[in-house]
Amino acid sequence: MEGGLNVFTAALLLFLSPDVQGTAHLSFSNNTQVNITQDGCGVSKLCVQTPDNCDPSGNSSCLFVSTVSSVSVPPNGVDLSIELSGESAGYIAVGLTANASEGTSMLFICAQNSSDNGTFFFRTMQMNNTDDTLTPTERRVTEIRGMVNGNMIKCEFTVPNVNASNIRSSEDTAFSVQLGNGSFEGGVFGAFNVLFSSKPLDLTKPDSNVPTTAAPTTTAPISNTTMPSNTTVPSNTTMPNNTTMPSNTTMPSNTTVPNNTTMPNNTTVPSNTTMPSNTTVPSNTTMPNNTTMPSNSGALQPHAVLLLLSVLTLSVLLRV
Ligand SMILES: *[C@@H]1O[C@H](CO)[C@@H](O)[C@H](O)[C@H]1NC(C)=O
Ligand SMILES: *[C@@H]1O[C@H](CO)[C@@H](O)[C@H](O)[C@H]1NC(C)=O
Ligand SMILES: *[C@@H]1O[C@H](CO)[C@@H](O)[C@H](O)[C@H]1NC(C)=O
Ligand SMILES: *[C@@H]1O[C@H](CO)[C@@H](O)[C@H](O)[C@H]1NC(C)=O
Ligand SMILES: *[C@@H]1O[C@H](CO)[C@@H](O)[C@H](O)[C@H]1NC(C)=O
Ligand SMILES: *[C@@H]1O[C@H](CO)[C@@H](O)[C@H](O)[C@H]1NC(C)=O
Ligand SMILES: *[C@@H]1O[C@H](CO)[C@@H](O)[C@H](O)[C@H]1NC(C)=O
Ligand SMILES: *[C@@H]1O[C@H](CO)[C@@H](O)[C@H](O)[C@H]1NC(C)=O
Ligand SMILES: *[C@@H]1O[C@H](CO)[C@@H](O)[C@H](O)[C@H]1NC(C)=O
Ligand SMILES: *[C@@H]1O[C@H](CO)[C@@H](O)[C@H](O)[C@H]1NC(C)=O
Ligand SMILES: *[C@@H]1O[C@H](CO)[C@@H](O)[C@H](O)[C@H]1NC(C)=O
Ligand SMILES: *[C@@H]1O[C@H](CO)[C@@H](O)[C@H](O)[C@H]1NC(C)=O
Repeated sequence: MEGGLNVFTAALLLFLSPDVQGTAHLSFSNNTQVNITQDGCGVSKLCVQTPDNCDPSGNSSCLFVSTVSSVSVPPNGVDLSIELSGESAGYIAVGLTANASEGTSMLFICAQNSSDNGTFFFRTMQMNNTDDTLTPTERRVTEIRGMVNGNMIKCEFTVPNVNASNIRSSEDTAFSVQLGNGSFEGGVFGAFNVLFSSKPLDLTKPDSNVPTTAAPTTTAPISNTTMPSNTTVPSNTTMPNNTTMPSNTTMPSNTTVPNNTTMPNNTTVPSNTTMPSNTTVPSNTTMPNNTTMPSNSGALQPHAVLLLLSVLTLSVLLRV
């Protein structure tokens, strides 16, 4: 709970000297090039984004953050190299917190100053997760570089000495990662709109938010499963050849019967129908051996058989 705050508080205290004012805790990189892509997500860097398919190299308005952690060197902890991309007329920010619903979040803000021709600038803030208030803080950040293009803001920076390992157990390098934006008008930061908040992620593991075989993340009941759009029904599936469709059943108009399925359309009456044993059929009487039934009859009607037998019997009797 308090761990995340402790981490940053400890780091803050470590690097906060009494004479630091304003933005002296920030240092900018000479390199102004910002190149943020999905390359390496889940492998060499931990990526968090909203919506899921966010491609930061495109011009989409999605929010994307990636972190790369250095190897932990106690007692100094790890250095986090962070990339952040998103759209705002004010600012975008990534928040790190131990618990998004209490305590505080450390916000790293990349912003544009609309009253100064949209120039890029960077700030750190602490957000009270209870009442969302922002308080300027002086967390040391280095290698800051950023660019603004219209409302698109991209920035990269390094947060040194994120020092969790000597305060908490090793698995407590987990932080919830918050992504969001806000306004910057008249020199004042508006409230941080959290658009996405991850579950606690181990920032030292690039794949800590990649679903594994045992990821119980799905809580919503699946009430409306849709088939994948490119699932193809095997083309040579054949209907059982002795299945008859009820003649009064109408098929759904957009259901297609497989092309090579043949429906039985000429049911044949068995040709070896046996006559009553004491009845002799004159040799010149030919039995129909291939009676074609109406196509919509699935079975021989009993009364039809009786009628047929009656006619045959009558004709035999008349001839005797
Ligand atoms: C920035 O560039 C200047 C001149 O190229 C160089 O003297 C200075 O050391 C560089 N600073 C950093 C932090 O690389
Ligand atoms: C940006 O980085 C990717 C790899 O991450 C690289 O392929 C691409 O050439 C880079 N683009 C620029 C403009 O540096
Ligand atoms: C604002 O930026 C544009 C493009 O970078 C530039 O052409 C223009 O001179 C700038 N205006 C001011 C007042 O700095
Ligand atoms: C956060 O805000 C709440 C309500 O205003 C306050 O009680 C609490 O002390 C604040 N927490 C911090 C760490 O400032
Ligand atoms: C199923 O999904 C469709 C659109 O995806 C939605 O309109 C419909 O209400 C859903 N039905 C149920 C039962 O959830
Ligand atoms: C179609 O399915 C294959 C695997 O069965 C999958 O790799 C591919 O991405 C799917 N394509 C689309 C457009 O869904
Ligand atoms: C058709 O079915 C046969 C065996 O039933 C199978 O070997 C073949 O792969 C199937 N062809 C297609 C296109 O599904
Ligand atoms: C075919 O019809 C027979 C007799 O009605 C039935 O026992 C059998 O299960 C049917 N086979 C199939 C594949 O439907
Ligand atoms: C379906 O027809 C095939 C060949 O016509 C036959 O070998 C098979 O036994 C028939 N199946 C049934 C269930 O009648
Ligand atoms: C289809 O025919 C069967 C038997 O003739 C009858 O019981 C059934 O009600 C009919 N169904 C419809 C939808 O007309
Ligand atoms: C099939 O028809 C039903 C009802 O007319 C309709 O709701 C459904 O969208 C149709 N599906 C396709 C793939 O056309
Ligand atoms: C059935 O398949 C053949 C080729 O296998 C195709 O030429 C024909 O157009 C298909 N008919 C229908 C109704 O899809």
